[in-house]
Amino acid sequence: MKHRVFVLETGCAFEAGGDESLLDAATRQGVRLPHECTFGGCGTCRIRLVAGNVAYEEMPMALSDEEAQAGFALACQARACSDLSISVPATTAPESQRRSSVVRGLRQLAPDVVNLELEVEAESLDYRPGQYMNVLLPGGGHRSFSMASRPAGNRVDFHVRRVPGGRFTDGALRQLRAGDRLEVEIPLGGFRLHEEDYRPLLMVATGTGLAPLKSMLETLMDDEDCPPVSLYWGMRTESDLYLADEIRRWGERLYDFSFVPVLSRGSDTWNGRRGYVQDAVERDLPDLSEHAVYLCGSPAMISDAKRRFLARGASAEHVYADGFS
Ligand code: FES
Repeated sequence: MKHRVFVLETGCAFEAGGDESLLDAATRQGVRLPHECTFGGCGTCRIRLVAGNVAYEEMPMALSDEEAQAGFALACQARACSDLSISVPATTAPESQRRSSVVRGLRQLAPDVVNLELEVEAESLDYRPGQYMNVLLPGGGHRSFSMASRPAGNRVDFHVRRVPGGRFTDGALRQLRAGDRLEVEIPLGGFRLHEEDYRPLLMVATGTGLAPLKSMLETLMDDEDCPPVSLYWGMRTESDLYLADEIRRWGERLYDFSFVPVLSRGSDTWNGRRGYVQDAVERDLPDLSEHAVYLCGSPAMISDAKRRFLARGASAEHVYADGFS
């Protein structure tokens, strides 16, 4: 049986069967809905159900019970059980384009993380802090990396973590030299800094999930309207904490900035916080009702952090997440 899905912002409608996701149904009928992972892990396709009901074969990782109860749904996993009215967050991001780029620098940041600096062939590069690009691989396929620097000119940094056996990160990246060319698709993704959501910022990252948050924070530097920022970064060991000294210096250019690195496997000499990064946030910030929360990193951290932070008063409308493995 087909149901009618009405998109409030655009006034367009499409039909969705109970055996397909809203995203698949919309895409088939030429209606664009924001999405990235398509497996329920990143939260980019989150929509608000204004009327009607949906069901899931399995509850997706990127949607907490609290969000579902508050009327949110993930379009890539939700199936229509009735006619629906949905609200889709506006994307003000520029259209993505395929472009050529030249490698301008490769710098080892940590044993398994490289800073890749690209010069993209464009007069200036327009993207929202938090977005990502795809590197198009010869022979098909792509790998995605978030921009790690603020939009300025046409040079941009990425934090690339080497994944053992990875076709790009453990293959082509090793051969890459300054001057080599890469085909990229840029910019992509709905994760972005919501400057209109002016609240104290709680930013929580694991691994190279730091990169899009760095891009956001560089954008806010020297801005006297910058809200207070608490940045929590979860890593395994001390040697993983790349750029930690630089991050501490961000406090000189950000209003009311705190940085809390948290190690799950710190050595005996580590004097800082230990455990899971979301544990540290819970201990430090018992009330999150006034915060805008940005989560970036592993889907498991995001799923757990969302559940816990919503229980601490965070509002689902002010939680933004970008999950990747
Ligand atoms: Fe739906 Fe990632 S696209 S959760």
